[in-house]
Amino acid sequence: MIRVVCPGSFDPVTNGHLDIISRAAKLYDEVIVAVLHNPSKSALFTADERVEMLREVMKELPNVRVAKFNGLIVDFCRANDVSAIVKGLRAVSDFDYEMQMAQMNYNQAGVETLFMTTNPLYAFLSSSLVKEFARFGGDVTGLAPEPVIRRLTERLEPE
Ligand code: PNS
Repeated sequence: MIRVVCPGSFDPVTNGHLDIISRAAKLYDEVIVAVLHNPSKSALFTADERVEMLREVMKELPNVRVAKFNGLIVDFCRANDVSAIVKGLRAVSDFDYEMQMAQMNYNQAGVETLFMTTNPLYAFLSSSLVKEFARFGGDVTGLAPEPVIRRLTERLEPE
């Protein structure tokens, strides 16, 4: 039984995240999508809302579950019997920091990190850019799942 974790902020989940998670779900027995709940970092959606959106868009994948975590991802891995962290790599610009985190996590806790190359269709995509385009009236169709775009539009509506 190989259980892996896809950790992230997912504020909100994009089609790039979905691509990595669904590909990981084909390779491993179970994937836990772990949503970082960091009260000191400002986010557009609460951790519970991010979890809810992920559950909605992942509901067709029976071996994927969604959980919230805070603290260190390696502690989450230990507590949940996780074999490895799976991360998507978009471009060389991701590489330095991702490698540093992977080496730190291995050095400190022996937790492995596996990298998957992002689908080139989504290589430019990030939650921040989706939020920025949505905030200023850009069309983000195809960049995030429909229910997420709906909630983004609601959240960003002027009061
Ligand atoms: O979606 P993000 O914000 O790029 O995800 C980053 C995340 C949550 C994967 C990373 O910051 C993380 O693992 N945070 C948990 C705290 C931790 O373990 N920090 C040490 C990393 S070496």
